[in-house]
Amino acid sequence: MQRLLSDSNSYRLVQVTDTHLYADTSQVLVGMNCDEGLRDVIDLIRKKEDVIAGVLLTGDASQDNSAASYQRLHTTLATLGARQHWIPGNHDELKAMQKVLNAGNRCFEKSIRFGKWQVVMLVSNVVGAAHGMLKKAELDFLEEQLSSTNAEHILICLHHNPVPVKAAWLQQHALKNPEALFAILDRYPTVRAVLFGHIHHELKCKRNGVAYYGSPSTCIQFHPSHEEFALDHRNPGYRWLELHADGTLLTGVNRVRNKRYSVDFASIGY
Ligand SMILES: [Fe+2]
Repeated sequence: MQRLLSDSNSYRLVQVTDTHLYADTSQVLVGMNCDEGLRDVIDLIRKKEDVIAGVLLTGDASQDNSAASYQRLHTTLATLGARQHWIPGNHDELKAMQKVLNAGNRCFEKSIRFGKWQVVMLVSNVVGAAHGMLKKAELDFLEEQLSSTNAEHILICLHHNPVPVKAAWLQQHALKNPEALFAILDRYPTVRAVLFGHIHHELKCKRNGVAYYGSPSTCIQFHPSHEEFALDHRNPGYRWLELHADGTLLTGVNRVRNKRYSVDFASIGY
């Protein structure tokens, strides 16, 4: 396991999310070429980050659930030289991902130790639906992880937002049973933060002492507060996270700069 060079008790991770790749690299999503966005974000990570211990891919890897898109994403992320940890989004199917990358691929491990931290990856997608749901088996898995680990600090990752967003159209597609998640988290004071994708914009809030972080996509950005579907003019980006042994979690978002993408900002859906 790679560690931060400056502090052997800390781990630097990056979250890459909502890459929405197609099998055909020339295909565009509301005007944007998602491969181009991903490439630029990977270049940015290379420029900004020194040593990273892992890449958290929090869903919507593919727009068309194609084998070629999953394979290409895996190969592209591998250029960062860190372990990958994948969960599916509403546009993905876990079984399809696992068929392409092999079910035994370590990127599908759902509980990963980083020193005094445990990162737990939860599957929240419902095949054929845009909204999310944590099924009983997933909630049981979380409970089992939290009750059995001797890690002092926990970071939980899922695709769908368990906390509300201001954009009403997007909130319709949120996690539908956040109270089931909260009921578990409320019993474990070691839980420090919950990280998600899906919302294609940056969000930070706190609930009962736990920090919740939403993050930009590597392709199109959703406007954070419009009632109806609306795209934001911000550029693609990623989130970095630094897990410290004392439980401190530092995090921030970096975006591609000095570039304009071809995006159909007048679009009323995607
Ligand atoms: Fe997405």
